[in-house]
Amino acid sequence: MSSKITAPRGTQDLIPPHSAQWQALEQRIHALARRFGYGEVRTPLFEATELFVRGVGETTDIVEKEMYTFRDKGDRSMTLRPEWTAPVVRALLEHQLLAQGPQRLYYIGPIFRYERPQKGRYRQSHQFGVECTGYREPEADVEVISLAWELVRSYGISDAALKINSIGDAQCRPRYREALLEHFRPNVSQLSPEAQQRVERNPLRLLDSKEERDAPFVASAPRFEEFLCEPCREHFTALKADLDMLEIPYAVDPRIVRGLDYYTRTVFEITSNALGAQSAVCGGGRYDDLIASLGGPDVPAVGFALGMERFLMIVEAAGSEKPSARSGVQAIALGAQARATLLPIVAELRRLAEVPAFMDYEERKLLAHLKIADRNGARFALIVGEQELAAGEAVLRDLESRTDRHVPLGSPRVVAAALVETGL
Ligand code: HAM
Repeated sequence: MSSKITAPRGTQDLIPPHSAQWQALEQRIHALARRFGYGEVRTPLFEATELFVRGVGETTDIVEKEMYTFRDKGDRSMTLRPEWTAPVVRALLEHQLLAQGPQRLYYIGPIFRYERPQKGRYRQSHQFGVECTGYREPEADVEVISLAWELVRSYGISDAALKINSIGDAQCRPRYREALLEHFRPNVSQLSPEAQQRVERNPLRLLDSKEERDAPFVASAPRFEEFLCEPCREHFTALKADLDMLEIPYAVDPRIVRGLDYYTRTVFEITSNALGAQSAVCGGGRYDDLIASLGGPDVPAVGFALGMERFLMIVEAAGSEKPSARSGVQAIALGAQARATLLPIVAELRRLAEVPAFMDYEERKLLAHLKIADRNGARFALIVGEQELAAGEAVLRDLESRTDRHVPLGSPRVVAAALVETGL
């Protein structure tokens, strides 16, 4: 007995018509990135495991429990990319791009995390992200935030919220960490089991706990803003002023701390109520120490990644995307001779026209052909039967307005060119 093979849990097939939405999103991303002066980077789907252990951080959920790690036939430990920032930094170092000055890169592609699948959370998902290296100035933070915000805005999504915070740097974070420890330690037995485990290892992460038991202690925890050193405070103040100037609405949220270890100073998320529990559609921030910690020069950087599955969920909820209009032409041949006449015309249309040319090769009634045209979403039907052959013309039916036009038959190229010229 053979059992049915299905897609692995937490993964999804992308099929028409939904795949057209993905293509449209990807096109919009490419155009947007170009306008901001970002070039595309593509890195391997798998990397040496050590890159993520060192890059993302040993105490993070990703490294502790979510990586798809395997040994290859050469007994090397490899890991499917759980995020793009560490691989992009690895590539920047490998190709010595940082020596050339600031770099602006973007990417689109899958990530893999062994998480418990639910709505908006998958084991294979897709990110669009950007990384901007070489600037210590808050203007770079604003640049990447405004790039993400522009994508949200261009889709007319109104319920998205930008939340920002600063988590300081190596100067001020130890003091804040101490303050958090002092705050949580006396109450440790009342915290959730997960929080109890985290207190000593990574107390900052307690702040984004979603457990109800932790909520009162999180609410009364000291805020990082009170502990920021002067340069970090100045950076944060300038960032807020720039966002105000560009009229990008935001809220300071002291609970945004992010789940990856490499962040310094600015961290941010874009959330939407349409997503339920997995509310973050975009997350990012500054990581001034990561490049050096991966063996590179002391070059600061800032970036974000946006979950494309989640983004399309919000787009759908916002109802802002227009239903796709009919387009293209369905060639309908009634009889073998008509088929022989239409086939080269369809071939020419596929060369000349921007819209799709469909053709069905089976012998059917006109009505059955028209149903297929509907299913294909064709705007026009180009119909040839015995009568049309005798008259030397085809019927071009506008399937939206239900009106017919006659098109003289002749050399396939001339017919196709005439069709394109009159507008398909
Ligand atoms: P992250 O917060 O781990 O950051 O992921 C960014 C976004 O990817 C999330 O807000 C979410 O929309 C999406 N995402 C992550 N995991 C899943 C999943 N299992 N299922 C569906 N969507 C998911 C990073 O990855 C950083 N590398 C971002 C960054 C770039 N920071 C600086 N530069």
